[in-house]
Amino acid sequence: MTTKTDKILIFDTTLRDGEQCPGATLNIDEKLVIAKQLARLGVDIIEAGFAFASPGDFEAVSKIAEIVGTENGPVICSLARAIKADIEAAAQALKPAAKGRIHTFISTSDIHLEYQLRKSRAEVLAIAQDMVAYAKSFMADVEFSPMDAARSDPEFLYQVLEATIAAGATTINIPDTVGYITPSEFGAIIKGIKENVPNIDQAIISVHGHNDLGLAVANFLEAVKNGARQLECTINGIGERAGNASLEELVMALHVRRQYFNPYLGRPEESQESLTNIDTREIYRTSRLVSNLTGMLVQPNKAIVGTNAFAHESGIHQDGVLKNKLTYEIMDAQLIGLTDNQIVLGKHSGRNAFRTRLKELGFELSDSELNKAFVRFKEVADKKKEISDRDLEAIVNDEIQQAPDLFRVELVQVSCGSNARPTATVTLRTPEGQELTDAAIGTGPVDAVYKAINRVVNVPNELIEFSVQSVTAGIDAIGEVTIRLRYESRVFSGHAANTDIIVASAQAYVNALNRLYAALQTQQKPESVSAQKV
Ligand code: KIV
Ligand code: ZN
Repeated sequence: MTTKTDKILIFDTTLRDGEQCPGATLNIDEKLVIAKQLARLGVDIIEAGFAFASPGDFEAVSKIAEIVGTENGPVICSLARAIKADIEAAAQALKPAAKGRIHTFISTSDIHLEYQLRKSRAEVLAIAQDMVAYAKSFMADVEFSPMDAARSDPEFLYQVLEATIAAGATTINIPDTVGYITPSEFGAIIKGIKENVPNIDQAIISVHGHNDLGLAVANFLEAVKNGARQLECTINGIGERAGNASLEELVMALHVRRQYFNPYLGRPEESQESLTNIDTREIYRTSRLVSNLTGMLVQPNKAIVGTNAFAHESGIHQDGVLKNKLTYEIMDAQLIGLTDNQIVLGKHSGRNAFRTRLKELGFELSDSELNKAFVRFKEVADKKKEISDRDLEAIVNDEIQQAPDLFRVELVQVSCGSNARPTATVTLRTPEGQELTDAAIGTGPVDAVYKAINRVVNVPNELIEFSVQSVTAGIDAIGEVTIRLRYESRVFSGHAANTDIIVASAQAYVNALNRLYAALQTQQKPESVSAQKV
């Protein structure tokens, strides 16, 4: 079999590697919302999780396989160590998918073999080959990753790749696990693989890389020039440590500079055909959704999706852009789905207009979600005259956020000012349905609110991050609050949007506490979960 593709395949691992960053833990419903959006974005493969890691991961992979893994949808993939039990769990979880893929891996670098696996090269070679064959007995589509490939001895790497392709791997993925490699070195590794693995034309070459030196995207682009045809990446570049290669940066680099890349794919330089299957207009919305649900903020100067990415501050630049956008802009903001923030709705807009606009924005809500979101819309429209697309997105993202509904904020009241001691009163509804009220004094209004909430919830925790961002310009803008708190060694995030930032702060905090509370209830020990992460 010859495996050829005239496009660069986008393998999204936001829900597996991306979810491995501290505090980014998502529940099953949130994973499903993201998976649906990834399908809308047009990714070719969704790595939905690591089925063996926990019952929650298994259920998430299985649900995504069932609901998103349709005939015309993306391939749904589960990670599995090169261990029979892992592979069996992956195969079982992927059963409902029309197109499933098992992604199995084992380390090949001497440093991992000696200190982590304590195995010889011969043993690793045999395990890799056997476990790919075992995965193949369940599924035609099997991906194999020699972990830490970028630091592995090339000759041993070629041997392992040849054996695993012979055993049935249809994609071989080359990870720069520790984010160590530089672009020309990575390009040379891919070139070496193409030249030295005799059966390489029977598999797609994929790359996976971490951003420890800020080089992941550059490394991937060099890999493409040398024959890589699948890129493993995450939305906003989230992931282990400094994160993974960022999907939006890769896709837009390949789009904006397609004339440069075309010849490497055997196309005429002037071809306008897209190099990936991604609908770039869905990029911004996907970025916002992932940021809101994971609590991982996007830095303002982040390429493509940062709030400053299309803002021109310098007078000379502004002058040029006004005369002709091409003077200082290499891409149009609309290409990534950033609208001009038009005012679309107001307090007299009815349910139908609301539903229609949401549909145009790509949100498909169930009737009950729509009802909830409409109530919120009316509340906001009462306070804020003009509701823009960005406001609508904030409202809907907030409403579909699936943090467990255990404690609920019923009332927040603060008194503060230059000559006052900031005091807050809060009323929370407990998971048992009781209304509890408490009050506290703090160094500021948010501190007072958080102290009062802590008196009710009574789970010791440390607030490690608090951020407020406004959704649009204007004094009546919706404020989005994102917080992260630590409990023992685990981090939990919370997010909320409201025109009143004190109320948003309270809701974001309760949101994070609910995640913490739910984790304590299921008694998922932090160690047992992180031990399964790779
Ligand atoms: O970084 C890595 O090596 C991985 C593998 C499991 C592909 O995430
Ligand atoms: Zn990784």
